[in-house]
Amino acid sequence: MRQYIIGNWKMNGTKTDAKQLATTFVKRVSEANRPLPHIVLCPSHPYLMAVAEILKDSPLEVGAQDCHPENKGSFTGDVGAFQLKDIGCQYVLVGHSERRQHHHETNELIRRKLEAAIKEGLRPVLCLGESAEERAQGKTFDTISKQLLAALPSDVMPQDFLIAYEPLWAIGTGLTPTRAEVEETMGFIKHELSTHTTGGALVPILYGGSVTGRNAPAFLSLPHLDGLLVGGASLKVDEFWDIINASVR
Ligand code: PGA
Repeated sequence: MRQYIIGNWKMNGTKTDAKQLATTFVKRVSEANRPLPHIVLCPSHPYLMAVAEILKDSPLEVGAQDCHPENKGSFTGDVGAFQLKDIGCQYVLVGHSERRQHHHETNELIRRKLEAAIKEGLRPVLCLGESAEERAQGKTFDTISKQLLAALPSDVMPQDFLIAYEPLWAIGTGLTPTRAEVEETMGFIKHELSTHTTGGALVPILYGGSVTGRNAPAFLSLPHLDGLLVGGASLKVDEFWDIINASVR
């Protein structure tokens, strides 16, 4: 499977920064002389249209960082999946740990967002991961299983969505699990998907949390890893480009 490299820009930068980053990656991709992975850029909401416009005729794709489960209505400050699709998004992150933590998002709400995104023709990236405490207590698989099973709509197809395994303690901390730990957790997620969905083994599974140009090659060479969700390093042109170039398929 062709790997995915997704850049989550979070709440960073100006419109000028967003446009510059997008323009630079379009140029680099057009000049690349090797097969590239799927590359998805996720700017914050105000810059989505500007970035979508720049990526429009390129192989790069655009994703949002969140959506509301309803299409329209009295939801001040929210953005619906339908609206994201309307402005040219192809992907949307759902259930990122920063949303779970700061906006108290529940697995039930995340399932509704996932359903709304799929219904509108977006590919949601469902983020899962355990806290440091849960890992210390040996509850990693239990947490992930709960997050996964509660968020999965019953009739989901493997091509409909992606999973990003992001341990909370690895996000923005410089800490990462070992390759063996990532492999083990991915194996568990694949097993859960296969048991509970049709064709679940085909759902792409990404790793995220303190990915850098330096550690990306080790993760991307894991036999079953389908890509990376990158936060901080996706804002640095050369480093993100190194990560893209570390993809092995
Ligand atoms: P990080 O963030 O790469 O800065 O750790 C990853 C994420 O939150 O998706």
